[in-house]
Amino acid sequence: MHHFAVNRQGQLCCEDFPLREIARRTGTPVYVYSHATLAHHFKVFDDAFAAIPHIVCYSMKANSNGSVIRTFTNLGGGVDIVSGGELARALSAGAKPKKIVYSGVGKKVWEIEEALRRGILMFNVESREELETIDAVAGRMRKRAPVSIRVNPDVDPKTHPYISTGLKKNKFGIHIRQAMKDYEWAARRRHIEVVGVDCHIGSQLTDLSPFLDAAGRVRRLVDQLLAKGMPIRLVDVGGGLGIRYNDELPPHPKEYANAVVNAFRGLDVTLVLEPGRVLVGNAGVLVTEVLYTKPIPSPDGKGRKYFFIVDAAMNDLARPSLYGSYHAILPVGKCPRGRVTADVVGPICESGDFLAKDRTLPPYKAGDLLAVMSAGAYGFSMSSNYNSRPRAAEVMVSGDRCEVVRERETARDVSRGERTASFLAAKRPARK
Ligand code: LLP
Repeated sequence: MHHFAVNRQGQLCCEDFPLREIARRTGTPVYVYSHATLAHHFKVFDDAFAAIPHIVCYSMKANSNGSVIRTFTNLGGGVDIVSGGELARALSAGAKPKKIVYSGVGKKVWEIEEALRRGILMFNVESREELETIDAVAGRMRKRAPVSIRVNPDVDPKTHPYISTGLKKNKFGIHIRQAMKDYEWAARRRHIEVVGVDCHIGSQLTDLSPFLDAAGRVRRLVDQLLAKGMPIRLVDVGGGLGIRYNDELPPHPKEYANAVVNAFRGLDVTLVLEPGRVLVGNAGVLVTEVLYTKPIPSPDGKGRKYFFIVDAAMNDLARPSLYGSYHAILPVGKCPRGRVTADVVGPICESGDFLAKDRTLPPYKAGDLLAVMSAGAYGFSMSSNYNSRPRAAEVMVSGDRCEVVRERETARDVSRGERTASFLAAKRPARK
């Protein structure tokens, strides 16, 4: 569900605001987020878990814009972070430290120190060496670090290999069969407080069964830990619930919640959820302008195919190039009549720079505006300055209000912090 729809004048709008008007004001490419969609998704997800104590910790890597995070913190949400940078941004977007969970395989000492100083809810620890480091850092700071071990349940999430994380060949977590030994070791450390168990098996899951498998395995471990007297009070089941980009039929958050709640029934624990994509994915679009069109003979030599060269590229939205992901592409204004086969490509100097391949699309012309749909998750947050392209502006709409929530970068921003090596500085003319 989302709040992007065509109005009576044939204009694609975000809530009550025409995307064309946003493009006119801010230029393109521009990311546009619907506040109503974000809030609705959060409430639906949060309400789905009403039967059990829980915290929805938004996985901010999906979209780290401060206004997006604040939409969720205003609704009582916490945040799932994976770096010191995310910690700083989460706090400045109003996240309560006691609702922040910190995951990731490579936490640095300064990041652990900062998280301890702020008093976060827990560290999701991914290796024995990380446990040792956290114990040592907490010791130096005369603190106890709240810890859960991220267990790797060896479950195939049946998603793209780059975003599968819960297989034993993946770098994530501690294998669930070894976890008990590490829990026993952790429980003996003076500066570690064992508080929970954590698991995250992958992203864009469209089937419940891998979640159920993983939850069953985690439940057995929680039972064993409790039997050994470990004070497990938090069970973090990660994120990963998929969304519809094309023809996927992911489970409704309610079905997902029922399955998870069922798996942990009877335990006196607080569930921690780390949804990312499901909250923000369909709440954002990337608006781009067609710069040029170029016909080429179609591969079978019988017809023509087109390139629609647009002003957004793989640096703005990496998903199609990186994972071969599908994003629907809609006209922002009136839809031209007819259909052609086309690739929608960006200006970047790589053949891998495309937003869509071999699509049947209207015969767009230079100057037309297109909306790349479902771009709210892992869109701007994965964008880069490749080809020295300034990153896009971000806009949030609420009803008939529209505000820039991140300025478009300038050419100056792109080289910020860079300096010419002194030995390359222009030579003074030699004196005679
Ligand atoms: N928790 C942990 C520990 C994670 O690693 C992730 C995502 C999440 C939660 C949130 O997962 P979600 O609910 O968004 O599926 N760039 C890829 C997705 C990478 C996911 C990384 N981890 C993409 O564009 O599809």
